[in-house]
Amino acid sequence: MKKILLIFGTRPEAIKMAPLVKEFQNHPQHFHTRVCVTAQHREMLDQVLNFFEIQPNYDLNIMKPGQNLYSLTASIIESLKDILEDFKPDYVFVHGDTTTTMAASIASFYSGAKICHVEAGLRTFDKYSPFPEEINRQITSRICDIHFAPTEKAKENLEKENISAKNILVTGNTVIDALFESVSKVENISSPGINHIKELIQPNQEIILVTGHRRENHGDGFERICKALKDIANNKPEVQIIFPVHLNPKVQEPVQRLLSHLSNVHLLEPLAYPDFIWLMNRSKVILTDSGGIQEEAPSLGKPVLVMRDTTERPEAVEAGTVILTGTDDAIIVKETLKLLNDKNYYNTMSALHNPYGDGTACRKIVDFIKSKT
Ligand code: UD1
Ligand code: UDP
Repeated sequence: MKKILLIFGTRPEAIKMAPLVKEFQNHPQHFHTRVCVTAQHREMLDQVLNFFEIQPNYDLNIMKPGQNLYSLTASIIESLKDILEDFKPDYVFVHGDTTTTMAASIASFYSGAKICHVEAGLRTFDKYSPFPEEINRQITSRICDIHFAPTEKAKENLEKENISAKNILVTGNTVIDALFESVSKVENISSPGINHIKELIQPNQEIILVTGHRRENHGDGFERICKALKDIANNKPEVQIIFPVHLNPKVQEPVQRLLSHLSNVHLLEPLAYPDFIWLMNRSKVILTDSGGIQEEAPSLGKPVLVMRDTTERPEAVEAGTVILTGTDDAIIVKETLKLLNDKNYYNTMSALHNPYGDGTACRKIVDFIKSKT
């Protein structure tokens, strides 16, 4: 019986690790599974834990309003010591590229556990974009023993860094496991979040869905994004812009200041994951700087304008569902209007693609670990 510890802390890590937690828990004869949340996010993490009915064994509860990278990193490493020494996991699972990921990898390395990285091998090769995620994932790759890459391209990136192919498995992204499991459940759901949106928007109205949170966009980037949204709202008064605003005060401040007075812009609290999937499905176009949404949208056939200068997810760009606009307001406006006004162009961009997997990533990961035991 092998001891498995899954460590995560933010909303997207929780969404992408939830199906893996379930898959390990489905094999109690092989694995003793425990979950540790750093709670780098609090409310946004708890929304996901509630939906997937995951009860963490350990909760570090470290989130502070307006937290900084220095104290966040230090407190994660420090708080994990007792848990790692008490449970003595054989395998620790971390996900992606957050501060939780990088700090948990370092702490697990100190403990002597084998470390497994889910969503390994994504790269922009630009140290400052996304910041600090590009460096977080490079450090994590250096420390980890087993690398679960979502795509062949991600595997190639790892091999170029001299990581042995025998320690890399291409699985698809677990976000597609979560999406496929949840999408059928949300078709007919009713929830306070969805009912509220239905009250705001008429069935015949088109929706532009917006999210944003990246650190490198804080300040001027967000000012320009908001200017673009204001221009779109004024240019297309019949179109409704829905923006569930990330709880980071550096996002809340400019968004509330610049957009709250516009009648066809609706600023909402972060939505519960099933409500957000429902809203993606209901939307015409998505504007975002999110990583996860770039992966989900092609499987839902939704065109995405990515308000970043770089992406570590080139597969969706190649598939034609994603366009990188950066945060130049003129480009964001031009690309959005083109999608709204040109039907043929819209139809090409909204073709269904599944570059990030077929929903079997978690099974492949668990089978791989089983084969090691
Ligand atoms: C973090 C990750 C980023 C990931 C993103 C997903 C790092 C450095 N960044 O960025 O890689 O893409 O999560 O959303 O790991 N807050 C709340 N409640 C919450 C969540 C956040 O109040 O539930 C506020 C707090 O004031 C917190 C701030 O947001 O201090 C920033 O959170 P933090 O995790 O540091 O950064 P994110 O921008 O969320
Ligand atoms: N999401 C959500 N509610 C929201 C906005 C996003 O549940 O209001 C989900 C979305 O479906 C995706 C994930 O959160 O799976 C993306 O998280 P985020 O953009 O915060 O982080 P990133 O993916 O950029 O790391």
